[in-house]
Amino acid sequence: MSKKLFIQTLGCQMNDTDSQHIQAELEKHKGYIKTDKLEDADLIIINTCSVREKPVQKLFSEIGQFNKKKKNGAKIGVCGCTASHLGQDIIKRAPYVDFVLGARNISKIKDVVDIKGSVEVAITNDDSQYEFATATSNQYRTSVNISVGCDKECTYCIVPSTRGEEISIPPEMIVSQIQKAVDQGAVEVMLLGQNVNSYGRRFSDKRGKYSFTKLLQDISKIDGLKRIRFTSPHPLHMDDEFIEEFAKNEKISKCIHMPLQSGSTTILKAMRRGYTKEWFLNRATKLRNLVPNLRITTDIIVAFPGETHEDFLDTLDVVNQVKFDQIFNFKYSARPGTKALEFKDKEIDDEIGSLRLTQLIELHKRYLEDSMPSMIGQTLNVLVESLKPNGEVTGYTDNYYQVFAKGSDELLGKFVDIKITSATRTSLKGEVIA
Ligand code: 5AD
Ligand code: SF4
Repeated sequence: MSKKLFIQTLGCQMNDTDSQHIQAELEKHKGYIKTDKLEDADLIIINTCSVREKPVQKLFSEIGQFNKKKKNGAKIGVCGCTASHLGQDIIKRAPYVDFVLGARNISKIKDVVDIKGSVEVAITNDDSQYEFATATSNQYRTSVNISVGCDKECTYCIVPSTRGEEISIPPEMIVSQIQKAVDQGAVEVMLLGQNVNSYGRRFSDKRGKYSFTKLLQDISKIDGLKRIRFTSPHPLHMDDEFIEEFAKNEKISKCIHMPLQSGSTTILKAMRRGYTKEWFLNRATKLRNLVPNLRITTDIIVAFPGETHEDFLDTLDVVNQVKFDQIFNFKYSARPGTKALEFKDKEIDDEIGSLRLTQLIELHKRYLEDSMPSMIGQTLNVLVESLKPNGEVTGYTDNYYQVFAKGSDELLGKFVDIKITSATRTSLKGEVIA
């Protein structure tokens, strides 16, 4: 009988891919198969996030629960960013944890899994040329890491200290990994990195100049690949060459993530983001001018230390001008080892932070309530990727609207025209046009 693995993932899309790699490595080298039932598992892994404080608190309550529910003799492993930054302390605080594996050490999973008490968290580890066993969670879509780590020094961010310095994965490895997934039926790829458009700054071997724009061009040559997405690009590195390629390359999905973080130039400076409010607006305008039907998503942090009411109004102003299609909102959370801890005396009252967050959410809700119904009556081309038990299929348009319609499994993996009949704030519903 195969051993069973239960894996829970918290955090970003990179953590999702790391979990897929962990799963694929354990299957290939150790014969584990995945289970959704914790009670059946021989190995329980939690892959954590430490970008904000909440998931860290959640980690200890979750593993406590896992320990109570697990079957006799089952092992527990803690992986990911919290593993990187707490290391050995996790085992000190929760001695029933069998091993700890950092976000930068995923290739070592097969080594640590059988060694009680092992801790592998070195952020100098270099997995950038390690060939992970292939892993996909969705038949039509694959996610591929293009770099590890992050060289930026955003003052609020713990990532550089959990994932280490940025190293690009060689382009030929990326292309061959995508090709493999395409051969197995994938039509869409999501390229992942903490800062994708600084791709090519550093490889672990010596090689010539190479840019993210060039990578996009090379990937789009893959036959059978229909759609390319990526996250996260940094607004500072959105140069004209990149924007022009984004606009003219038909394989690139016309939905872009532009993490604003703050609309105030003063706060952006304190965050060390490297751009101003004007630069961000200029890049968004250039993109909008070149790309009809562009959708833009963003991340915003409210109540960064020192954020005044006027600074917050600048954020609302950018939200009003850019008209984001989706906003991931966060209240500033002080993180260990970050530069922003030096601004402790300027920290914003939690109640004010919550109020700003609510204001931002409400403003955006109203915008979506006005804009989404304008899609009714339009016919959109949708890549159908799943069938739900209620007989509805769902998939995404090129600019990443999620669309639902009555349909059957014959539509799976196909591009289908759907006439929109209703809209919510986050998705559209329609009828398949024969
Ligand atoms: N507090 C709040 N939000 C944060 N993020 C990163 N660090 C923090 C922090 N200390 C947010 C940023 C980033 C997203 C992944 O998480 O908006 O883009
Ligand atoms: Fe963190 Fe900034 Fe790097 Fe993003 S770019 S991971 S916010 S340091």
